[in-house]
Amino acid sequence: MLGERTNLFKMVTGMVRTLIAGNWKMNGLKSSLEEAKKTTQMLQDFPDKADCLICPPSTLVVPMKEMAGDRLHVGAQSCHPEASGAFTGDLSAEILADAGASYVIVGHSERRSEHGERSAYVQEQAHACLRAGITPIICVGESYAQRQRGETKDTVVRILRKSVPTLAESETLVVAYEPLWAIGTGLVPSNEEIATVHGVIRELLIELYQDRGREIRILYGGSMKPGNAAEILAIENVNGGLIGGASLKADDFMAIYATAVA
Ligand code: PGA
Repeated sequence: MLGERTNLFKMVTGMVRTLIAGNWKMNGLKSSLEEAKKTTQMLQDFPDKADCLICPPSTLVVPMKEMAGDRLHVGAQSCHPEASGAFTGDLSAEILADAGASYVIVGHSERRSEHGERSAYVQEQAHACLRAGITPIICVGESYAQRQRGETKDTVVRILRKSVPTLAESETLVVAYEPLWAIGTGLVPSNEEIATVHGVIRELLIELYQDRGREIRILYGGSMKPGNAAEILAIENVNGGLIGGASLKADDFMAIYATAVA
């Protein structure tokens, strides 16, 4: 029922183009480009009704972009807030844009926990992306303990408020709701829980960006797979997915994409 109503809403408004985004994390050798090549070929068989993105390790951005064609977007997984300078080992949004990245994931929970990246830093990264003409995908989510304490909505709103850029156009910002306990675990919140959190995020985006906030894409991430994608993508205010494990194989990734354009 919920799905039918939502699809009708999406059809009537026709406002938001779904984004199916793959986060390869620290997986991907040159040989993995075969999967991206297969993805670009498979995309030709689907109507061009949703955006498709892969964020590989940065070493693969250039060769992936070279083979991507017009249907596959290529992105990166983090960036430094400064444009250039003495920051050994880092990559700026400008460098990533020059390499061919059109999106950058910022504030992923693995960056927040492994690299101590706080929301203020994530906001600086988001500003850096906008300066370089890149769309940031800002990740936010609650821990299992926060969920158990009933703090999911407050946590998501608090983190997101501090992480998003001060100004954004609807097409230059993407938000991803990724409950920490659902990442890589096979666990997924109920449809109602996803709808509630995405609804709260939508309200915050409208508060911050007025009408433009209605069109900013909100992705769901955390154990999205071919088997659950159709159901999740049909939930109101779910405008796509950020997919880790299931994005590594073109067959799985395209099975998810297929549900988005069905
Ligand atoms: P997962 O990862 O799909 O493997 O759960 C999602 C993410 O961390 O972006």
